[in-house]
Amino acid sequence: MATKLHRSILAYSLCLMILSLGPDHVALCTAQAQSFVYSGFRGADITLDGSAMVQPGGLLQLTNSSDIIGYAFHRAPLRFRHGAGGTVRSFSLSFVFAVQSEFDKESSGGMAFFVAPGRNFSGAMPGSFLGLFNASTNGRPDNRIFVAELDTFGNGEFKDIDSNHVGIDVNGLISVEAHTAGFYDHKTGSFTNLSLNSGDPMQLWVDYDAQITQVVSTLAPLGAAKPRRPLFTATTNLSDVLEDPSFVGFSGASGSLSTLYSVLGWSFGLDGPAPAINITNLPKLFRGRQEVRSKVLQIVLPIATAVFIAAVGTAITLLVRRHRRYAELREDWEVEFGPHRFSYKDLYHATEGFKNKNLLGEGGFGKVYKGVLPVSNLEVAVKKVSHESRQGMKEFIAEVVSIGRLRHRYLVQLLGYCRREHELILVYEYMPNGSLDKYLYCGEDKPTLDWTQRFGIINGIACGLWYLHEKWEKVVIHRDIKASNVLLDGEMNGRLGDFGLARLYDHGTDLQTTHVVGTMGYLAPELLRSGKASPLTDVFAFGTFLLEVACGQRPIKQDSKDEHIMLVDWVREHCHNGTLLQTMDTRLHGNYDKDKASMVLKLGLLCLHPLPSARPSMKQVMEYLDGETALPEMAPTHINNVNMMQIRGFPDLTTSIGTFSGLSGGR
Ligand SMILES: *[C@@H]1O[C@H](CO)[C@@H](O)[C@H](O)[C@H]1NC(C)=O
Ligand SMILES: *[C@@H]1O[C@H](CO)[C@@H](O)[C@H](O)[C@H]1NC(C)=O
Ligand SMILES: *[C@@H]1O[C@H](CO)[C@@H](O)[C@H](O)[C@H]1NC(C)=O
Ligand SMILES: *[C@@H]1O[C@H](CO)[C@@H](O)[C@H](O)[C@H]1NC(C)=O
Ligand SMILES: *[C@@H]1O[C@H](CO)[C@@H](O)[C@H](O)[C@H]1NC(C)=O
Ligand SMILES: *[C@@H]1O[C@H](CO)[C@@H](O)[C@H](O)[C@H]1NC(C)=O
Repeated sequence: MATKLHRSILAYSLCLMILSLGPDHVALCTAQAQSFVYSGFRGADITLDGSAMVQPGGLLQLTNSSDIIGYAFHRAPLRFRHGAGGTVRSFSLSFVFAVQSEFDKESSGGMAFFVAPGRNFSGAMPGSFLGLFNASTNGRPDNRIFVAELDTFGNGEFKDIDSNHVGIDVNGLISVEAHTAGFYDHKTGSFTNLSLNSGDPMQLWVDYDAQITQVVSTLAPLGAAKPRRPLFTATTNLSDVLEDPSFVGFSGASGSLSTLYSVLGWSFGLDGPAPAINITNLPKLFRGRQEVRSKVLQIVLPIATAVFIAAVGTAITLLVRRHRRYAELREDWEVEFGPHRFSYKDLYHATEGFKNKNLLGEGGFGKVYKGVLPVSNLEVAVKKVSHESRQGMKEFIAEVVSIGRLRHRYLVQLLGYCRREHELILVYEYMPNGSLDKYLYCGEDKPTLDWTQRFGIINGIACGLWYLHEKWEKVVIHRDIKASNVLLDGEMNGRLGDFGLARLYDHGTDLQTTHVVGTMGYLAPELLRSGKASPLTDVFAFGTFLLEVACGQRPIKQDSKDEHIMLVDWVREHCHNGTLLQTMDTRLHGNYDKDKASMVLKLGLLCLHPLPSARPSMKQVMEYLDGETALPEMAPTHINNVNMMQIRGFPDLTTSIGTFSGLSGGR
């Protein structure tokens, strides 16, 4: 843009002379300038500081966002006094400015023309301090600053008259005189308000008459002639204020609301009028941009912001949920068990988020879900065991993993585990035909298992248990043998599941409150007494299992008088009376091998012997089942004794039923 500098020829040649003396004299040189005018600031002799910048079009933009200060100074200081120690000279200035607030014509700062001894405002604050003062410097006489302020923020602290005024200040922000922005019509004398932050360019004139120490301020919209009646007049003797030389310039200080303070043109004159600003040459304001921006701000931005916040919020929620959903518990000692560890995420997806439709069953230890592993497409049964204590977990996991290595035709393969807070998850091979109890207790009309299938299952479970007790590298006690823990694979082979789980619940219990785990009707008397599981307590439970399978009845049955009776007592009674085969499942309709059936029932009774030492080992059980060894004959007296012992030794057995039944039910 056109930049004109009016300098007296004399001053100019003086300047050249002094310039040749060295850079230290430059300030003195330009102090001789009488006046200057800038219509636009491209190439202007000004220095910028803070956020101020000259746009390519020549617009001097002091601020471009919130909480920011920008300064523009006439590069050289000016000689404000008549000689050293003389009084301050008269001066005049005018400038065209615009205040564009981005938010609803609200702003929280202001801009100012100032005359100051220096260019360093590093301690000053933005907002209503106009970038010229701070709370401790405001109002101090040694500031030596003259300010013509355009205040768009009413600050009670500074006795501001409103949030849209022009003020003349000395050394601080409490104005000597101020007036609401506007102008007086010279014909009618009526006052017209102007909104400083309307975004419309306006022109301000400030004239200091040193003779009468008066500052006259006049405001008008751009393009209007300077009103004859000024906006207001302030009286202040600047001879008591200004340093010589002093710098002149502008500051723009936005507060928390983003506001653009710009200067389009500026003229200044010492000891004479400020030259007129040729408004046809003024740079263009980014009005289009502002309008677009304000539209953007008013319509698009709130929506975009809302959408953005919603999206970010959703993303964060999802991430947090995802993190929580898939959160696992993993400890250092588990590193060695790594290959047996499943990720919770995989299990979550495998079971479709542990949905009820995938629920296979619910037992004393927890719920079992069917799942399909994501990569291998392997069908699995996923058991969620709630477990609070971490005590003994390491041993348990070690056992799980060791059992995981244990493969046997009649054992349900444990594939691995996963841990979460309060939760242990075990992954097993999936058994398509479910648990045995469903076939045994399904009611008269449902198809049941024939004798051959039952005998095969008995053999298989015996074989599996024998393997656990005697053939594996260490003794594994199952602790919870029962029909509901026997699962049927695709070929209706019985396979023993859930081994070792009961062990988890034994950990961390002290001897005083021995916590027996197992299922009522399967618990050996010595287990109830001491709480100590052994292979022979498994044999006892296996005895109950044999009777269950042969009789098709639960270990504790209800008789016609609705009283609970033990299956074992009932079978024993029949054995004693010589009517053993009457206990066989009526749904078999007599279609069974009578010798084998009788052997199974008697073997069951033998395994259920109250004295552990009288029970066979699983190896012996296998031999009896194979028919290699004949069962020892059980004398009726012996049976009677057994009965008596059981009754005398455990008089409160029936009450224990109630106590223990909650521990474990069927699957
Ligand atoms: C504001 O101006 C400064 C330069 O003074 C620049 O670095 C910054 O990016 C600008 N900010 C905006 C929002 O235009
Ligand atoms: C401005 O003044 C401060 C001390 O108030 C000083 O640290 C800083 O360096 C000065 N800046 C300039 C550019 O002289
Ligand atoms: C105020 O400004 C002065 C001078 O620039 C500076 O020395 C002082 O530290 C500032 N005080 C505060 C509170 O910012
Ligand atoms: C002008 O501004 C003053 C002070 O803000 C206000 O009292 C007055 O009503 C305004 N007048 C018009 C015509 O807007
Ligand atoms: C202004 O102040 C100066 C210095 O204090 C003094 O010499 C001068 O007379 C004063 N002018 C008026 C009009 O009071
Ligand atoms: C303002 O500038 C334009 C173009 O530079 C010129 O034509 C016009 O005469 C000038 N107006 C005045 C009053 O100097």
